[in-house]
Amino acid sequence: MTTGSDLLALSPVMPVVVIDDADDAVPTARALHAGGIGVIELTLRTPVALTAIERVAAEVPDIVVGAGTVTSPEQAKQAADAGAKFLVTPGSTDAVLDAAFATGLPFLPGASTVSEAMRLAERGLSALKFFPAEASGGAAFLKSIAGPLPQLRFCPTGGITLSSAREYLALPNVGCIGGSWLTPSKLVAAKDFAAIEKLAAEAAALR
Ligand code: 3PG
Repeated sequence: MTTGSDLLALSPVMPVVVIDDADDAVPTARALHAGGIGVIELTLRTPVALTAIERVAAEVPDIVVGAGTVTSPEQAKQAADAGAKFLVTPGSTDAVLDAAFATGLPFLPGASTVSEAMRLAERGLSALKFFPAEASGGAAFLKSIAGPLPQLRFCPTGGITLSSAREYLALPNVGCIGGSWLTPSKLVAAKDFAAIEKLAAEAAALR
């Protein structure tokens, strides 16, 4: 079974993708995969997000598609029903965690403090999303908690760019980083999938 830790090992960068037009989902996923990226966090921030997940899961089987921005128990279930292979939450409430466990899918719960991370560890979770990374202390925060919480691995996300990525990826407790810079809305709207593939290739080469 895929675990949260397995998810962190799929690519150095997990693209955080917002899809406004469901027709853009498959070509965007194909471009990311062609650039060498093996995983995609498709966010539940638009009305077409579940359709987009469904299409990517069915038509681009080589990329592991998960649902991001899961903020309610209902969304966890809907994402699983749409075919998401994993879930990502920006923060962690008991209700969302219970619903995520109930799907049986691997998931990356969000944490931005030591206490949140410890609570998630108490529930048996060791692969977490650190969000919002830059606003919550960035790489220095993760470096500081590697000593007291050595069992935890993170996917820091939020404000990270190609140029700040290396500092995070060099840390022992970072499995991968998340970011939206691979699929800027301008490029997706312009259907410039060649440019997205180029950004994906740069990101895939980070490690
Ligand atoms: C997320 O949901 O993980 C963030 O919005 C991604 O952050 P970024 O846009 O700063 O990369």
